[in-house]
Amino acid sequence: MKEHIKFNPEPLVRPNIRTLAPYHAARDDFNKGILLDANENSYGSVIPTEYQLHRYPETRLNLVRSRWAQFRELEMEQVFLGVGSDEVIDILIRVFCEPGRDEVMITPPTYGMYKVAARINNVGVTEAALSSDFQLDAQKVLTRVTRETKIIFLCSPNNPTGNTLDIQQVERILHGFKRLVVVDEAYVDFSDKESLCSLMETCPNLIVMQTLSKSFGLAGLRVGAALAHPSIVEWMMKVKAPYNINKLSADLALQAFDHVDQMKENVRHIVAERKRMEKELKELPMVDEVFPSDTNYLLIRVKNALEYYKKLASRGVIIRYRGDQLHCEDTLRITIGTPEENNRLLDEFLD
Ligand SMILES: Cc1ncc(COP(=O)(O)O)c(C=O)c1O
Repeated sequence: MKEHIKFNPEPLVRPNIRTLAPYHAARDDFNKGILLDANENSYGSVIPTEYQLHRYPETRLNLVRSRWAQFRELEMEQVFLGVGSDEVIDILIRVFCEPGRDEVMITPPTYGMYKVAARINNVGVTEAALSSDFQLDAQKVLTRVTRETKIIFLCSPNNPTGNTLDIQQVERILHGFKRLVVVDEAYVDFSDKESLCSLMETCPNLIVMQTLSKSFGLAGLRVGAALAHPSIVEWMMKVKAPYNINKLSADLALQAFDHVDQMKENVRHIVAERKRMEKELKELPMVDEVFPSDTNYLLIRVKNALEYYKKLASRGVIIRYRGDQLHCEDTLRITIGTPEENNRLLDEFLD
């Protein structure tokens, strides 16, 4: 097993979590034998299934964690699994941010759930906006940090803008901010730039978030991960619901890693369509700008964007209006669909 750089996040953990005796689940001790310890239903599930759904799932999910780790050249101890990245965000905030006192920092325009999860937990949100060309300004981020800032959330490639953040700026933040830096890599497989996972060897305060929802096409499973220093993962394990990932999701998540070639093939098709759509959209008279994208969507600037959004929706083509986001006036975010779906979208724009 790899030697991990020394890092003790305990001083950053909320005092009540530091002293928490986590719930000890029955299935942590035994999962074979005559199981009369967890008030399950020994008569079986009402639905005929091979999945043993009358039994609680595993709590630590070492098999899935190992496969995810192998896929990203990490160790199992560096993988935490959540019910989508959305649960990962919430758990990070609950472990490290004291409600009513601490803050997280976000860099708008960015994915909305960081702010929502902070607000739900009564945690403050400080903003250090990206530049008007959607780039990260490490200096600005570092000067906005306060004593209460516990976590900086970065998103790369960024939603909704589609671009990858400048790695040098990310590294400046990782070195300049001694607390936790989350880099949300939900879309990293659509990019030809590398995941930042390798930086974890030298920056133990880096938490990379990934998900099976995008490149693997498994949004319905609800499985996401925090890839982080083992000591961070263990704190997150203490706080998660004991059975957060259900048996069906765990089993299918494991199978996903047997189909990495298919994932890569699908990504190739999506990226090819993205490049075609970029060209075709640029030629439409109402389109002023198509922003470069390393993801499975394109952000475009359109005259009267809100009107086009409504018109397309009324014809059954649903895209996302993003004109209310900082620096995104008159923009629409379009997920890359199948060639037929994309052609329909282009037709509806012109019609
Ligand atoms: C940047 C980003 N992070 C996370 C998520 C959510 O991922 P999950 O489905 O794993 O909760 C999304 C979903 O759109 C996203 O855009």
